[in-house]
Formats: sequence, structure tokens, C-alpha cells
Amino acid sequence: MSLVTPHGGKLVNRLLSPADAKSATDSAATLPAITLSLRDACDLEMIAIGAFSPLTGFLGSADFTRVCKEMRLADGTVWPIPVVLSPENAVAEKISPGSKVALNDASGRLLAVMTVTEKFKHDKALEIVNVYGTEDDKHPGVAMVRQQGDWCLAGPIDVITANHEPEFLEYRKTPAETRAMFEEKQWNTIAAFQTRNPIHRAHEYLTKVALEMTDGLLIHPVVGETKSDDIPADVRMDCYKVLIDNYYNKARTMLTVMPLAMRYAGPREAILHALIRKNYGVSHFIVGRDHAGVGNYYGTYDAQQIFERFDVAKEIGITPLKFENTFYCKKTKGMASDKTTNSEKEDRVFLAGTKVRELLRAGHRPPEEFSRPEVADILIRWAQSLPA
Ligand code: ADX
Repeated sequence: MSLVTPHGGKLVNRLLSPADAKSATDSAATLPAITLSLRDACDLEMIAIGAFSPLTGFLGSADFTRVCKEMRLADGTVWPIPVVLSPENAVAEKISPGSKVALNDASGRLLAVMTVTEKFKHDKALEIVNVYGTEDDKHPGVAMVRQQGDWCLAGPIDVITANHEPEFLEYRKTPAETRAMFEEKQWNTIAAFQTRNPIHRAHEYLTKVALEMTDGLLIHPVVGETKSDDIPADVRMDCYKVLIDNYYNKARTMLTVMPLAMRYAGPREAILHALIRKNYGVSHFIVGRDHAGVGNYYGTYDAQQIFERFDVAKEIGITPLKFENTFYCKKTKGMASDKTTNSEKEDRVFLAGTKVRELLRAGHRPPEEFSRPEVADILIRWAQSLPA
């Protein structure tokens, strides 16, 4: 058996060879430069390494419009969220199609050269309402679009260095690398777990049930841009490592990171997360309750139901593993969901995020039914280091 085919048929690689990177760097010295936001730099890395296959650059207007309206690129390939480069107006106004531009990170480091094939008005109203399903500025994804410029620059990118933020190097594996690792381990079926949180008992349960059905498990946290009140990636990485060391079968569990910038677009983002994992060589993808959600913008299972709008086998090509809301059940003394227990509310261990933070700050571990003590201790150290 072989691993799943990348989205669109083949894995994109926009990283230049060392020799080509050298000449691109020399020629970039005279090009107009665009300073990328952190989100842009994350998108650039995702494109460069093929995690966003089949994208080879930032989207043009035909792709943008169809993605917003129909969740498809102009050629019909499923793609749920636009990936656009929308710099400050003053910068965009000076750039015309046909030119090349240098793309720099915030510190001025050259990351890539882009060939601008098109410049078009950023239809933010179309993007916001379709992708996020709300126009509320309190939604972090909506706020991000509103902050972007009024023009989009489209075109392929040639990448000199993808690691704008070279953290977690040991865990920063490209889709080509994870595919090679799966082959070496002779895993044919792999379940991936997307997360932007520490892994608590409910998450752990999902990953282990998934692993019962597959050869291997990929714990694949987001380490690109997240909301300022999400737990920082370095703290989370310490939690994942201690958890895997103590509670997982290491022979069947892999931890690598994904440099995506979260959009918090709920259902549409679940589709994006699944397609990305297919590119990494994964066959099954965990979608639990309120996947990639924020606040109360999406229904608990919207991110699962959206898969029904596609021919999943043909058009998505990765199997979603859909999980009900899970919790520790005191009556049955184990992890459970509405599917597996009839217990009453008071038998279910549920803690709201704000309550967990209060406990951690006060130096108290949440109950063991909620979080493993080793994870709790790392989070307590982090919570207590924060300014009051
Ligand atoms: S997310 O933004 O990455 O989706 P989070 O890290 O909280 O947020 O969730 C990771 C995955 O676990 C998602 O698929 C989410 O739906 C699922 N999940 C989180 N908590 C639960 C729970 N108690 N029951 C079922 N699924 C859950």
C-alpha cells in the first residue's frame, strides 16, 4: 500500500536550490520589497514546503472568488479559505503586474521572490461573510482580514528560506519528510491530530481511539500564528513531549509541528486542516467538537457536517474521524461521550477554560480526570510566570 496522493496530484516544492537561492538573493537587492506580516510569513512557509499543495503562490482573483463562494479553486479543486497577499495600500499601489518583488520578514530578512501576475481589489466583504460566517470584528479571523490592505498581489513564489521563525527545528518536518518517515516506519494508515491547545484527557482519548484504527498517530500542533490568549507554542510543546513520554506508545506516535496561521474559521478551517494533513501523507483526520472554532460563532458539529457537502473519497481524499464531545464520566469511570454513556450532567467532569486558568494561576492542578499531572505542572509554571 502507498500513502495518500497529495491534494491536486503532486507535492509542491517552492524552495530554491542553494545555487538558485544565491542568484535570487543577488537579484532581489534591486527589487521593491514587501514586509510580510506574521500570518503572511506562515502562509509563505506552508506554500514553500508543499503543505498548501496545489498552491504555488498567493491566489489570483478567479481563485479568490470561487474559493469564497464555492470552496473551490477556479479549476474546481476543493479549497476552503483564500490564501492572499494583501500588503499595506501604500506598498501595493507602487507594484504592477509583471514585476518581481522581494518578500521580507519583519526583521528585514529576505524570504522569497514573487513574480506578480495579477493585482486585484481585495473583496473583503465577500471573504468575511463567506469564510467566517459572521461580520463581527471580535472574531479574530474577521479582524485579521479587516486589517489587511485593499489590494491583493497574486503570483508564484520562489523561496530562499521558509523558516521565518526557526523554532522547534527538530520537529519542523515538511510533508516530504513526514511521508518519508511514515514509509520508514511502514505505516500505511496514519491518524493526524490538529491542536492549538495542551493535550488534556479528552484530546488524549480521541487520539488513542483513532490510533486503534490506524497504524500510527501524528500529533500535529499548530505553531504558526495563534490568538494572543492561546497558550504559546513552546509551552504546549513541553506538554506534548511529557505526555508522549509518559502516556503514549512511542513506537506508534510521532510529534511534528505545522506552521499554519490559525484562522479560527471553524467548519471551513476543518476542511483546510484535513487537506493539509493529506499533503503530509496522513490518511485519517480527527475532527471533534467545535473544531477550529472560537467564541460561539459555529455550531458544535458544523465542522463535521461540512464534509457532507463534498464527495469525501474523491474530492477530499482523507477520512475525517468524527468525535462527539468527550469527557471523563464518573459513573462509568472512564472517558466517554453521549454515544457511550447515559450519565447525568453532574457525573461528567467539565471545566471551562477560564476556570482552568484560575486553578493554574493559583498553583492548583485541575483534577486528574481533566489533565495529566505532568501537563498540569508545566501549565502551572507558565501561568504563574505571567504578569498579574
Ligand atoms: S482546534 O482549534 O485545534 O480545533 P483544540 O486544540 O481545542 O482546538 O482541539 C483539537 C481537536 O480536538 C479538534 O478536532 C477539536 O474538535 C477536538 N476536541 C477538543 N476538545 C474536545 C472534546 N472535549 N470532545 C471532543 N473533541 C474535542
